[in-house]
Amino acid sequence: MDANTKNRPFAENGSVTELLERYRSGHAMEQAFYHSDSVFAADVEAVIMQEWHFAGLANEIASVGDYFLFELLDESVIIARGEDEKVRAFANVCRHRGSRVCLEERGSTRQFVCPYHAWTYKLDGSLRHARLMGPELDHAELSLKPVACEVFHGMIFVSLAEKPASFEALRAEVDGPLTPYGLDRTRIAHRERYTVEANWKLLVENYNECYHCAPAHPEYRRTHPTHLSADRVEPFNLAMEERARALGIPTDFIDRVGPGLCPVGSVDYSYSRHSLYEGFDTGSDTGKPVAPLLGALQGYDQGAMDLYVGFLNPLLVYNDHAVIYRFIPVSRELSIQEIIWLVHEDAQEGRDYDLQRLTWLWDATTKADKHIIEKNQKGVNSRFYQPGPLAGMEAFTQRFINYYLERLRGHMHT
Ligand code: FES
Ligand SMILES: [Fe+2]
Repeated sequence: MDANTKNRPFAENGSVTELLERYRSGHAMEQAFYHSDSVFAADVEAVIMQEWHFAGLANEIASVGDYFLFELLDESVIIARGEDEKVRAFANVCRHRGSRVCLEERGSTRQFVCPYHAWTYKLDGSLRHARLMGPELDHAELSLKPVACEVFHGMIFVSLAEKPASFEALRAEVDGPLTPYGLDRTRIAHRERYTVEANWKLLVENYNECYHCAPAHPEYRRTHPTHLSADRVEPFNLAMEERARALGIPTDFIDRVGPGLCPVGSVDYSYSRHSLYEGFDTGSDTGKPVAPLLGALQGYDQGAMDLYVGFLNPLLVYNDHAVIYRFIPVSRELSIQEIIWLVHEDAQEGRDYDLQRLTWLWDATTKADKHIIEKNQKGVNSRFYQPGPLAGMEAFTQRFINYYLERLRGHMHT
């Protein structure tokens, strides 16, 4: 950006296309990406409505007729288990005059009844009965609209895209490495939403770098050495890999994120493990376990697994619990950071884990992130803001920026 464009409002700075052309690799993005209604509107269409989102666990709707709602921006989706036991998702929009059909956040039912004129829908979304409409009504044409839904290791993902990215390559490559963790045999121990007064991309950028971990996260840097330089962190990883091998925990880095790495038409994904500090079994205050071992794991390799399913659902899996991150845009400068803690499905609160100990690390870390991200937004909104150079430790943030810009470019050209 030159001096002529630096301090002008976005409206004078040209179109989103010009903004995209001005981006300088190796740098932060300019103000308008975080502070303009037209970019936010483009983000919603180019990324948020296209991506996959973690919605919940399949065992939350274990029985026929169980359902819960997934809500994102203006959209509401019913996720229900049908008579055939299959998990399906459909738009919570009545095919008569568009009312929300299901109003309860979760529950169990034999059918969905629209509260407006009482059209009824079956558990598979098909129209069962439309009051006083006569026999000529074509029921088959009036099912609730299906929404893309995938159950992956017990986790339900939803996409609002017409043709969302495929899970095929992800399943083929990551099913094996994920199996020992038994994620399909976990349950949600706690789910917390943190409101962050910032554009959603500042949350994602922050999550993808640990350059800030040393100054911002005393709790995290006590447990994870990832804030150290590569040569200092390497010995920890090598020692962890040996322990992981002995326990049969896969450590090979699978990186399918970004152009050239991600198969065409596939969701981006990656699998990697990093070591905790020596002597730390898990991400807890003392390093001691906070819950029973997950899945088929037989011991602690003192590592943590990072899994990406798309860019908006990173998972961090310790040996005894898992943490799912969700980045949820609400409006241009308001987002929700949702954190979901998973434990073994048989683990009972009070007996097998203490919620405060389980959630300590990522609750403290997320509150600290909220603080720094909100200050980031404030600075970015200033007339004096100018995108600065990214550090080597911000390589994954650059990767997110590349992914994002590619999506936005694709959207602007359609
Ligand atoms: S809007 Fe649903 S029955 Fe009329
Ligand atoms: Fe952080």
